[in-house]
Amino acid sequence: MKLRATGGRIAGLRPRTMLMSGAAAAALLVSTALIAPSAHAAASTLGAAAAQSGRYFGAATNSFQLSNSAYATILNREFNSIVAENEMKWYANEPQQNSFSFSAGDRLVAHARANGMSVRGHTLLWHAQQPGWAQNLSGTALRNAAINHVTRVATHYRGQIHSWDVVNEAFADGGSGARRDSNLQRTGNDWIEAAFRAARAADPGAKLCYNDYNTDGINAKSTGIYNMVRDFKQRGVPIDCVGFQSHLGTTLASDYQANLQRFADLGVDVQITELDVAQGANQASIYERVTRACLAVTRCTGITVWGVWDAASWRDDNPLLFDGNGNKKPAYTSVLNALNSVSGPNPTNPPPTTTPPPPAGGACSASVSLNSWNGGFVATVRVTAGSAAIRGWTVRITLPGGAAVTGTWNAQASGSTGTVNFSNVGYNGQVGAGGSTEFGFQGTGTGPSGTPTCTAT
Ligand code: XIL
Repeated sequence: MKLRATGGRIAGLRPRTMLMSGAAAAALLVSTALIAPSAHAAASTLGAAAAQSGRYFGAATNSFQLSNSAYATILNREFNSIVAENEMKWYANEPQQNSFSFSAGDRLVAHARANGMSVRGHTLLWHAQQPGWAQNLSGTALRNAAINHVTRVATHYRGQIHSWDVVNEAFADGGSGARRDSNLQRTGNDWIEAAFRAARAADPGAKLCYNDYNTDGINAKSTGIYNMVRDFKQRGVPIDCVGFQSHLGTTLASDYQANLQRFADLGVDVQITELDVAQGANQASIYERVTRACLAVTRCTGITVWGVWDAASWRDDNPLLFDGNGNKKPAYTSVLNALNSVSGPNPTNPPPTTTPPPPAGGACSASVSLNSWNGGFVATVRVTAGSAAIRGWTVRITLPGGAAVTGTWNAQASGSTGTVNFSNVGYNGQVGAGGSTEFGFQGTGTGPSGTPTCTAT
């Protein structure tokens, strides 16, 4: 029997044929499966094997599945990360506007904590699986509801989520490389960055990801996303990672790894977030090649499969690592062996280095760029050091009457109305001579005008 989520209205499930199209153009290169010598004894579970290189290996799950003991045995033994297959989606945790229902997601988080697993959060905003009330909103009402959703959910789970899929599937399929039309997109092209800023303000410790499918190689859609991420990095929009769902068919694009690498080169982590592969002769080798691609990209920090065993898959072509009886499939062995072929810590997570702080004194300046909509705004503030390095800063900004700060990222705010002092946090106080750093805040009402004052500390 298939275990399927039934927790609420499910919209936007794509037909299987669409899922497969991303890999269609690629020629299958049969990998040579050489196992490199390893400095340590092979680990016997996926999580332990991935941890050898500082990575996680996760699975999507639903709280109702935890009571199946055969299922839970495999989940707990093999995986050191979980993601909610459905229970952290908008329809599930805000079924009525401003009335939140966190219990199913909380059960998953509690299970993860009890079993030493990290949690991926999926997903704050998506055109599909929205509650009915949100589907009926548009314009400013929808924008405000969406940002409120991001803030409330990310605040509820603050400190408990390793990485959030802040925005899911916002790009169109096909050759345009453009955004997907949706009710969220129609609130304005800046909805994605507003969501990331709100998520950062609500949970500064979580990695914030953009997540999508049919991005399994260098193609028009992945390039559209690449351009957005590059733009976000250039403008200081807080994005930390890109998720590649990797719902795969019977072939894998030959540039799968090169595509991950080009995103990593933008300065974001990459993660394989929803891996499943059509059954058939190539299943084990595609799983292996995806695993090896991640291992070969320093900033690929983990892999999640979209379910534990075939019986629980959303697909009907047995795409997972365990069969319905809980037996390990050949694909399981190919993934485990690939993970065991790499040793040593992940160079993306080196121990922090300490450098002595610069002397007190020095000068700084600050400038604000505003993104406003009717009733709200997001302010991005650039702090630039003068001709000497600084060890800390405070930026003083006066808000117009009626305006209030509702969230701040990369800074500490002294209050929310009138004149507000924004001071550096632990990691961004030091700015080299002539260098700069950014912080931001979101508010209701009209954003500030004029040039703020900056004081070096
Ligand atoms: C799927 C779930 O697996 C199904 O149970 C549900 O009916 C529909 O959604 N991309 C995503 C996931 O980001 O949230 C989807 O999950 C699969 C495709």
